[in-house]
Amino acid sequence: MTEVTPLSSLKEQIAPDIKSIFYPIKSEIKSVESQLKIWSKNSPSAIRAMASKVVSNYGKLLRPGLLLLVSGHLGYKGKDRISLAAAIEVVHTASLIHDDIIDNSSLRRGQETAALSFGPDFGLLLGDYLFIRSIKRSLSLTDKNVALILTRVTEEMVEGEIEELRQSFNFNLTENQYYQIIRKKTAGLFQAACELSCYLAQASEKEKAAFITYGHHLGLIFQITDDLLDITGNSAQTGKSILSDLREGRVTLPLILALKNLNPREKIYWLAELKKYRQKTNKTNYSSILKLMNYTGALEQTFAQAEKKADKARKAIHLLPDSAYRRSLLDLVDFVLYRKK
Ligand code: FPP
Ligand code: MG
Repeated sequence: MTEVTPLSSLKEQIAPDIKSIFYPIKSEIKSVESQLKIWSKNSPSAIRAMASKVVSNYGKLLRPGLLLLVSGHLGYKGKDRISLAAAIEVVHTASLIHDDIIDNSSLRRGQETAALSFGPDFGLLLGDYLFIRSIKRSLSLTDKNVALILTRVTEEMVEGEIEELRQSFNFNLTENQYYQIIRKKTAGLFQAACELSCYLAQASEKEKAAFITYGHHLGLIFQITDDLLDITGNSAQTGKSILSDLREGRVTLPLILALKNLNPREKIYWLAELKKYRQKTNKTNYSSILKLMNYTGALEQTFAQAEKKADKARKAIHLLPDSAYRRSLLDLVDFVLYRKK
């Protein structure tokens, strides 16, 4: 397989360090980590080992971090924010367990996926279990409306994931359809992390609108860079297999833009080529498609769209009063945009 040369623009930019971004919420992040460990230990014995493996191998904690930074900026210090931050990470983990079954993925966060370790049947049930327990946990918090926000967003995540699956191998997918899918499957949870903090902190309508817009765009950037990293990333850094979108027929922004850049004759040729990929064999070689994306400039164009969303995210919170939390939220935009993992 020919490797795609990473874009020079992507290569040069170094993402800020997540530890320094989370510095203002350092102790809260530690509490979330402890809660996640307790979470797995408190599961019934038949589930404990499985739950422990996935819940303690947490990721970058972006969603809990987001919730805590927004809470910090709004001056909300209630202890519910820690439990909710842990619950949101568990919802995210549960969704990834299910997603890895759907995507036939074998690697997640640098480890075997739950489906590969325990089998898809156990993986499915483990995802269900973790999801329902996080909702139960959110129902035990002071305010029941937080559970309403969490269930509403997961309902949308399922809708987004179903739509994406339905559109597999649809090489006529439009940018608009792509954005509708990623808004639901990914951006919703980032937005919900912000919305939950605003709700708990009884933020003003102006603050709420600012953070919701910020979270929405941050989530879009996250999914666009995820789709780019699937092509240009390094498995050792992302902790996931690369080229899984092409392999599974997921039509993401780089491919949509590559096809858009072709003239009608080239498009007929490439659509016929892409159709062949559907009947994949072990020998299926994706290098020509990768070259297509590279030489049409689709990778740069995809990144440019992420940059535009980044401008919108920064702008959304630009006029809010300055604070260490808000500065971290601005750095978080750069982290998500320039991340390599
Ligand atoms: C990763 O997408 C997956 C998501 C962002 C959402 C998955 C949502 C569900 C499976 C429905 C909700 C389910 C529960 C239990 C709450 P991706 O495949 O593009 O990213 P990846 O490269 O990290 O796999
Ligand atoms: Mg996936």
